[in-house]
Amino acid sequence: MLVYEKNALSEEIELLVEKYGVDRSSLLQILQDVQRKHNHISDFAQQEIARLLSIHPVEVNSVISFYSFLHSQPQGRNSIKLCQTISCDMAGKQKIEDALTRELGISFGETTKDKKYTLEHTNCMGMCDQGPAMLINDKVFTRLDPEKAVNILKEVE
Ligand code: FES
Repeated sequence: MLVYEKNALSEEIELLVEKYGVDRSSLLQILQDVQRKHNHISDFAQQEIARLLSIHPVEVNSVISFYSFLHSQPQGRNSIKLCQTISCDMAGKQKIEDALTRELGISFGETTKDKKYTLEHTNCMGMCDQGPAMLINDKVFTRLDPEKAVNILKEVE
C-alpha cells in the first residue's frame, strides 16, 4: 500500500513538472498544487520535486518554510491564524493566544490530534484598528477577547 501511494504521488508530481516545466521557476506552482491537493507537502513529495527539477531538497524545503501558506506537516481542517503584528499585539494578542492554546491543548504551529484545528500566527491583515484579530480559514474575526475567541472556536465545524 505504501509503495502504491509513493508511486501515485511520484506520478502526480511528474505530471505537474510536465505541466509547469523542468525549471526551478516552476517550483512554487508545483508546491502550491501539491499543497492544495494533499493539505501539506510531505518529505517524500519534497524529495521527488527536488529530484525531478534537479535541485537540492534543501531548496524545496526553504521555499516551503518561507511561505506561510505552504506546510510540510499535515494541517487541520480549520486554519486559525492569529495576527502577531504590533497593533494587535498591543491590543491584547497575548491573552487571545493564551486562551486558544489553553482551549485546544496545543501550541502555535501545531495541529490538534483530531486534525480539526491548526494554530498559527500571521502578520497584519489590515484590521489593525479592530484588533486583536484572527483569521479562521477565509473569515476574519476582530475585537477579540479571550472568551469571544474561544466561543468562535466552538462554532467552527
Ligand atoms: S496589526 Fe493585526 S491586523 Fe494589523
